[in-house]
Amino acid sequence: MIERKIFYFEKPGPQNTEITLKLAFERARELGIKYVVVASSYGETAKKALEFLNGDIKLVVVTYHTGFIEEGKNTMDAETEHFLRSRGVTIVRQSHVLSGIERSISRKLGGVSRVEAIAEALRSLFGHGLKVCVEIAIMAADSGAIPITEVISIGGRARGADTAVVIRPAHMNNFFDAQIKEIICMPREKR
Ligand SMILES: Cc1cc2nc3c(=O)[nH]c(=O)nc-3n(C[C@H](O)[C@H](O)[C@H](O)COP(=O)(O)O)c2cc1C
Repeated sequence: MIERKIFYFEKPGPQNTEITLKLAFERARELGIKYVVVASSYGETAKKALEFLNGDIKLVVVTYHTGFIEEGKNTMDAETEHFLRSRGVTIVRQSHVLSGIERSISRKLGGVSRVEAIAEALRSLFGHGLKVCVEIAIMAADSGAIPITEVISIGGRARGADTAVVIRPAHMNNFFDAQIKEIICMPREKR
């Protein structure tokens, strides 16, 4: 049996970003984890995460797929992406595994897909940030940016970060092999 601390924020949102990153990197080092995966749509959280790098941990930033907001456009500007890459960061930009093409079908024809039901269950029960932690870990694994081994994954509510977990990811064709090993921090109020 092991005993570990979980930190709960009063509310979700980007005001929790710095402390989430601090707790996540501390836990990574405590456990000897080599990969930290962070969601960053515009690059803000990714830039803040750079401050915690020390040569021992690889930072993987998962961003929105091209066209997520505006057709053919990336949310993260080229300058930010270049800067992050120059600091050794891997950027993952690929189809979102917890919506995928199913979202187009739901939008056009109504109803909800099984994939979207999984996403909504994670969001409703554990908060948006935790759903993002699961999704980006699978995306990073499917891009070959992380191995299938315990990593830290960090997500938030729309902007910034408020949730961090230790997760053993899986590929999207074996989704149910993924396991959340530890919750490091999350908002107590989910909405
Ligand atoms: C693939 C992906 C999926 C996301 N899904 C959600 C979501 O379902 N709900 C949500 O509140 N935020 C979602 N986000 C936002 C992230 O949790 C995070 O707050 C954001 O990417 C941070 O961006 P910033 O560094 O530019 O502030 C998602 C981000 C990515 C990259």
